[in-house]
Amino acid sequence: MKKYFLALCTTIIACHAFGQSEKTYQIDAGKIKAHVQPNMYGIFFEDINMAGDGGVYAELVKNRSFEFKEPLMGWTEINKDGVDGSILVLNRGEANSNNPRFIHVTSTSAKGYGLSNEGFRGMGVKKGNQYHFSVLAKTESKGLSLQIELLNAKGDVIGNTAVLPSSKEWKKYTASFTAAETDPKASLKVLLKGIGAVDLDMISLFPQDTWKQRPGGLRADLVQKLDDMKPGFLRFPGGCIVEGRELDTRYQWKRTIGDVANRRMIINRWNTEFAHRSTPDYYQSFGLGFLEYFEIAEDIGASPLPIINCGMACQFNTCELVPVNQLGPYVQDALDLIEFANGPVNTKWGKKRTELGHPKPFNLKMLGVGNEQWGPQYIERYKIFEKAIHAKYPQIKLVSSLGPFPGGDIFNSANKTFRKLGASILDEHYYNSPEWFMKNVKRYDNYDRKGPKIFAGEYAAQSVVTGSPENKNTWKCAMAEAAFMTGLERNADVVTMASYAPLFAHVEGWQWTPDLIWFDSLNSYGTPNYYVQQLYSLNKGTDVVPLTLNNEAVSGQDSCFASATIDNNTHELIIKIVNAGKQEQKAQFVVNGAAPGGQATLTVMKSDDLNVVNSLTEPLTISPQKSKIEVDKNLVKLNMKPYSFNVIRVSITK
Ligand code: AHR
Repeated sequence: MKKYFLALCTTIIACHAFGQSEKTYQIDAGKIKAHVQPNMYGIFFEDINMAGDGGVYAELVKNRSFEFKEPLMGWTEINKDGVDGSILVLNRGEANSNNPRFIHVTSTSAKGYGLSNEGFRGMGVKKGNQYHFSVLAKTESKGLSLQIELLNAKGDVIGNTAVLPSSKEWKKYTASFTAAETDPKASLKVLLKGIGAVDLDMISLFPQDTWKQRPGGLRADLVQKLDDMKPGFLRFPGGCIVEGRELDTRYQWKRTIGDVANRRMIINRWNTEFAHRSTPDYYQSFGLGFLEYFEIAEDIGASPLPIINCGMACQFNTCELVPVNQLGPYVQDALDLIEFANGPVNTKWGKKRTELGHPKPFNLKMLGVGNEQWGPQYIERYKIFEKAIHAKYPQIKLVSSLGPFPGGDIFNSANKTFRKLGASILDEHYYNSPEWFMKNVKRYDNYDRKGPKIFAGEYAAQSVVTGSPENKNTWKCAMAEAAFMTGLERNADVVTMASYAPLFAHVEGWQWTPDLIWFDSLNSYGTPNYYVQQLYSLNKGTDVVPLTLNNEAVSGQDSCFASATIDNNTHELIIKIVNAGKQEQKAQFVVNGAAPGGQATLTVMKSDDLNVVNSLTEPLTISPQKSKIEVDKNLVKLNMKPYSFNVIRVSITK
């Protein structure tokens, strides 16, 4: 009796000291539960929402080689000063089946005649920045010049240059100029001056300020956002784009390397996917191809994770299948890709990589066989790939798909089969409500610790419902993902990789929402979801340690979700806790097994408004804010704001 009375008094005193709602969480910093893989938090890239062409690929000219179904889409004929001329679309056919079309421009006056290009929802150009124009041309005429003009949205010239085509054979001509103004909606005029005719192809304009200033490269602001995440891996090129609507439009990596003029342009499968977001001018030029993907991964320190087509077109569309006895070329593509990435320079594909300027291997360790496939046809094809790949490259880890949903018959059957087959990495996808994410935070608590590892390969909380154009990147969704990710982290021995999807979206050219990073022709912003991903990646630590409330993992009690890791490199304890409730809550973390010291750094994302979003004009409305908090002996105290995600880093000595 006396014992209970004393306990009651202690509780009352504690409540007075810290407030009624204070919760005491226990952390055992000396007890390692799991190692966190250094590449746990990564990126999923797919050319959806104009992520590639019109997005990170910095080409400003749309339909530069006239290979769109409508050969002059994106182009407007200009009758300068009312002078006549003509444009013919010609087809080389067999002579260049990768890039058959070009235009034949005839000018009948010395004043000039030609065409202009609108760019991808306008060309974003910056004052003082240099722009590099190039074109393939041939002509039988003498004394012609191509006048190149950059126009602002009002039609004023804000940059110009000229090239003088003179060769009877196809030849590349280049010229540069500086833009006198910034404009998100500029356009490019190409005028033929003089009387005569010229053949033109691959009309191109790139900014100088690409990522790492690479000619014909990528948009620096967008790659910077990826780099800022310090991602552990880069999954590419998708996504359903790997599969194609039909096999003809599947992703074929060998067609995406080498001279850009020979990379065969095809329709983007997202061009027609959603009637309500139809994007008739969405094609894949493959200027961003497999060498570029490997290079970005290398640049930003991410392990490359290519996904290859396994002889199946998208199962939400045609589900066109390659008969298993004709899978040979598909399997060979996979084997050759591994050689392209890792092979010494004296191998066929290692030599190719070297010729393309990258003798150093890319250290490929993982490969996805199929994107979001399912069913017996997938298993049948997967086994053929697995056998061939592991016969030659036993060390390559294969990623196997568990289909599009996180449960149900498709999932359960694939899960069972791949576990029996001893698969290495299972790719789970979940696009679901924020409530689902919070309810499923314990999803991995009881997974088989000795079975395959889990790759949470595509996930995003949907504010309305999957596929709805009304979905927004709200704080509610991001907070739910932060809560769910405490469950991924607590189970880092099972879940070894995770990536939000999709990654990029053009504000005027998207098909799918929500997305991690939004952009227009000049600017970009990270969503609240982006900052959540970034906080996890920058604060992953090296080892998971227990963080409990009443001896249980913190997985929704009082609307709180938490996990803790230590970082053996920096000697810090890292606490992540989400308060998904509308009340402020007081928490104290009792640290055992190591001594915390000094001040702790607190990084908070919060808002009282769960529907708030970031935007191009207000990009940081929901973003991490840093402050310091005091540490009292082995206690770290925190006032958790309503609807907040809190990350605490504190030094520890063992
Ligand atoms: O992320 C968008 C799409 O969702 C991906 O292409 C596909 O894998 C999934 O269905």
